[in-house]
Amino acid sequence: MTLTLDNPINLGSLRLKNRLIMAPLQQYKGTIEAFPIDHHIEHYGRRAKHVGLVILESTAISPNGRLWKNDIGIFTDQHVELLKKITDAIHAHQTPAFIQLSHGGRKSSPEVTNSLVAPSAIAFDEHYGSPEPLSLAGIQTIVEEYRLAAKRAVAAGFDGIEIHAAHGFLIHQFLSPLSNVRSDDYGGNSENRARFLKEVLLAIRGEVGRQYPVTIRVSATDYCTGGLTPVELVRMLKTLESELDAIHVSTGGLLPIQPSDVHTGYQVPHAAAIKQHLNIPVIAVGKIYTRSLANRILEDQLADCIAIGSPLLADPDYAEYLLMHQEQASTTDNDS
Ligand SMILES: Cc1cc2nc3c(=O)[nH]c(=O)nc-3n(C[C@H](O)[C@H](O)[C@H](O)COP(=O)(O)O)c2cc1C
Repeated sequence: MTLTLDNPINLGSLRLKNRLIMAPLQQYKGTIEAFPIDHHIEHYGRRAKHVGLVILESTAISPNGRLWKNDIGIFTDQHVELLKKITDAIHAHQTPAFIQLSHGGRKSSPEVTNSLVAPSAIAFDEHYGSPEPLSLAGIQTIVEEYRLAAKRAVAAGFDGIEIHAAHGFLIHQFLSPLSNVRSDDYGGNSENRARFLKEVLLAIRGEVGRQYPVTIRVSATDYCTGGLTPVELVRMLKTLESELDAIHVSTGGLLPIQPSDVHTGYQVPHAAAIKQHLNIPVIAVGKIYTRSLANRILEDQLADCIAIGSPLLADPDYAEYLLMHQEQASTTDNDS
């Protein structure tokens, strides 16, 4: 069978009506308390109709781990009440919603962070400043915050959780040897650097059970010699695969450097490399803006789902365009 965007797929126990996913897109409109506002309800409701899944923007599990001074959070019961309005708006279109759970670590917003923490005392840059290395007790506190966030995610009506382990935030900082030089059980070899992620994942699983969808977003490369590579990442993910329902493959963010060549579908080879070794669905993202390219990626089995970000920000109807208007969309394959 030739796969296309229109084909349903299961992420664990959850059936998606098609393979087009709204990528997590920070709105930078949260209040000082990290509450969502009416904008979020309207924004997500407006974009939910045609995609198979909406993944909400990065949402802080802790007041001390906010990525931005105006992001949203899920660290009190008041957050749950407000987030429920967003899931209701998405569900009104019979579309499921995942929440992306995040902690910024050394990249937490200096404007709203009391104490910057990370695996090791290595700064991202001068703006963020030097973080405090996490103590073992500090690590366990954050693992517990992830568990509580998962509990709140269920209460807020989310159909699944995406663990944000990409873009240089706390979990990625543990995974990469460039930001983790610990000499205890959380640093050194791959197994140790993946330990924090494993503990977060198992804490979430302990809360939500095995049937509830839990996926992960990773950065497959740090774009720097000595950083995380798809090969090492696969080794780490292999050991966690049985607890995960999909892997969403992005790149970069650990260091203040940009990839030199951001062309159409530039991250797809990384998704394909990871897919070769794992048996759970892989989501590709990054400048996949046409139906023909998306379908080619699915047909060639380079990935199982396609996420789109920027086009949906610019045009709330872009998903409909991709799914319904094959001919027009497929003529603009090289547009980016
Ligand atoms: C304004 C904006 C906000 C973003 N916010 C997030 C986020 O909250 N979490 C995340 O993992 N990625 C975030 N991303 C990255 C997107 O999810 C996506 O990976 C990226 O935009 C590439 O996909 P695209 O070419 O379809 O836009 C953001 C990107 C943009 C442009």
